Amino acid sequence: MSHSPSNHLRLAIYLVVLSFLLCHCSLRNKVDENPSLTQKEQLGKFLFFEEGLSTPEGQSCATCHDPDVGFADPLNELPVSRGAVHGLYGNRNDMPVSYSMYVPPLHYDSAEQVWVGGLFWDGRANSLTEQAMGPPLNPLEMANPDTAAIADKIRRLDYSDRFGEIYGENALNDPDSAFFYMADALAAYERSAEVNPFSSKFDLWQRGESALTEQEQRGFMLFVVESKGNCAACHPHTPLEDGTPAMFTDFTYDNLGVPPNAESPFYLLSSDHNPEGFNYRDPGLAETLSDLAELGKFRVPTLRNVAITPPYLHNGIFKTLYQVVAFYNTRDVAPWPEPETSANINVDEMGNLGLTNQEVEDIVAFLKTLSDGWHHQEIINP
Ligand code: HEC
Ligand code: HEC
Repeated sequence: MSHSPSNHLRLAIYLVVLSFLLCHCSLRNKVDENPSLTQKEQLGKFLFFEEGLSTPEGQSCATCHDPDVGFADPLNELPVSRGAVHGLYGNRNDMPVSYSMYVPPLHYDSAEQVWVGGLFWDGRANSLTEQAMGPPLNPLEMANPDTAAIADKIRRLDYSDRFGEIYGENALNDPDSAFFYMADALAAYERSAEVNPFSSKFDLWQRGESALTEQEQRGFMLFVVESKGNCAACHPHTPLEDGTPAMFTDFTYDNLGVPPNAESPFYLLSSDHNPEGFNYRDPGLAETLSDLAELGKFRVPTLRNVAITPPYLHNGIFKTLYQVVAFYNTRDVAPWPEPETSANINVDEMGNLGLTNQEVEDIVAFLKTLSDGWHHQEIINP
């Protein structure tokens, strides 16, 4: 097919205008008022993007949870997140905030005899409100010394009077209640439709508004079928009991036998932050429960937005989805490095799946249908 130069020019102008509009809108959506949010959700949104709440200032929740990547960490070249204090890093890969509202509190399912739920890789927070009180005081994240320091910062925000309108005029008088209301508003925003849009190609396909390609459909079958990928055993593709679309996690815990990540800058921190140095092994759920029987187990993460949230797994060891699926496929039959924790490794459902390379690629193609903003992507890549 041949194009006349004027067609090229028209297309170029169209693309420039379109990309300007898209960038402009996405920047605005990030921090602006959104009339469809309630008053409390809107306050939570301002706080989520507020860079004045860390010590030193400059780090917000959104620094590590960017709306463009499923509210996960956009800093993909590092396996863990960078702290507000220069030179400090966390011990784990980030998790997406989108859809974390569906994680139930940590509980023991006595019928299945497994632990279920709890926020963070190790289940140590039981609600979004409790979770939101973690990062502001975590020395490896927003690094505030105490709630009084945070309350001072909140009182100085130019929208601080919104706390009074929502929580009563004395809301900010006492540091602990100011801190609690901050977390409550953040949690309200995290539960809003803006953070949980259900706008992936998969969602549209389920609603009959889009089709999957042949490869994506093959990948979906391989993902589900027990004698193939068997991924849905832990990352179910079916709606939740209340009809909420699939979360691609059953919220349980497993040790996949993931190798340690020698590239993690956490290993290099001083002994105040990492007393064990290179011998550090992340205990996962065992630490939360003080139960060594759960050593090395981490919560099954959602696979929503997984294609746009590299690196992967609790220590960020793998940079591509292909590597993750290849690991499930050949862990026990190819020379992968030794596991970070050798206790409790799941050998029933993974390790030697017998998938061909083509089948691994098909599963990856399916995983790419789980990214939100499908219509938006379709416009960018016609
Ligand atoms: C320095 C980067 C960083 C900052 C700042 C940060 N987070 Fe996180 N977030 C992470 C990491 C890393 C994890 C996983 C940590 C773990 O499991 O121990 C996480 C986990 C979470 C989770 C759990 C998701 C799940 O599925 O369990 C939520 C919710 C969350 N963060 C919300 C927030 C909020 C709200 C703020 C602001 C108050 C915030 N984060 C600030 C890096 C960050
Ligand atoms: C026995 C349960 C189980 C099965 C079966 C399973 N997974 Fe997982 N999956 C997990 C757990 C647990 C993690 C997190 C482990 C960790 O970080 O140490 C995980 C993590 C992942 C991640 C990384 C997500 C992220 O955000 O870092 C991907 C991708 C993934 N699984 C895809 C798959 C695919 C594809 C299959 C099928 C080939 C599969 N899983 C089968 C339990 C399972």
